[in-house]
Amino acid sequence: MTTSNGRARHVAIIMDGNGRWAKQRGLPRVIGHRKGVEAVRELVRSLANLDIECLTLYAFSSENWKRPEDEIDDLMTLMRRFIRSDLPEFVANDVRLKIIGDWRSLAPDIVDMLEDALAQTAKGSRILAVALNYGSQQEIARAAAAAATKGPVTADSIAAHLDTADLPPLDLLIRTSGEVRLSNFLLWQAAYAEMLFVETRWPDFTPRDLITALDNFAKRERRFGGR
Ligand code: IPE
Ligand code: IPE
Ligand code: MG
Repeated sequence: MTTSNGRARHVAIIMDGNGRWAKQRGLPRVIGHRKGVEAVRELVRSLANLDIECLTLYAFSSENWKRPEDEIDDLMTLMRRFIRSDLPEFVANDVRLKIIGDWRSLAPDIVDMLEDALAQTAKGSRILAVALNYGSQQEIARAAAAAATKGPVTADSIAAHLDTADLPPLDLLIRTSGEVRLSNFLLWQAAYAEMLFVETRWPDFTPRDLITALDNFAKRERRFGGR
């Protein structure tokens, strides 16, 4: 059984390369992260014109805590600013925010802001899932532990307890900036996802690049192990 694709319901992006974007220009890394936020903003704005149900963005990994404290502070500051400035636009544009990962252990004020953002966007129909303090191995371990309290641990029961349980199946996983690895992102969900690795650094990634990626996806033949 092969599936001709056409349309991707769920696209995820590993937004990589902010640091190198800045370095290339002799700028501090934080400027790269700022530009990266602008790229997110443009992409979210473009969602209304795209025929996808869910866009999942890897914003901060559980391993990113290994970075220097000042860079982590910059990232958290940018996150606060982004939520504050763009939340009204999310609501106006029918976006439903979803957060995956261990986000409840972020700073209390960020948790409060996110809870408010989730409540305000609850009626939206286009899902923007943001992976915050996210690690896929940890997610799978949590899901397996939760599944075990309810009965036999099977692939289906684990899947039902993943943070992504209520999202459409992952169709396309994109990573920017030339690295060809998953860095602990959606390991389970990517089992049969199509992958696309592009050289573009994240701050340079535009809605047009996402459309190009969707065109590329539409030409692929998925087999899911069949023939
Ligand atoms: C991605 O850009 C942003 C985060 C991981 C938060 P990087 O900061 O990883 O940029 P590079 O990989 O060093 O260029
Ligand atoms: C993955 O990028 C995490 C995010 C994009 C948020 P990293 O830059 O942290 O990944 P590695 O360290 O190069 O694998
Ligand atoms: Mg990186």
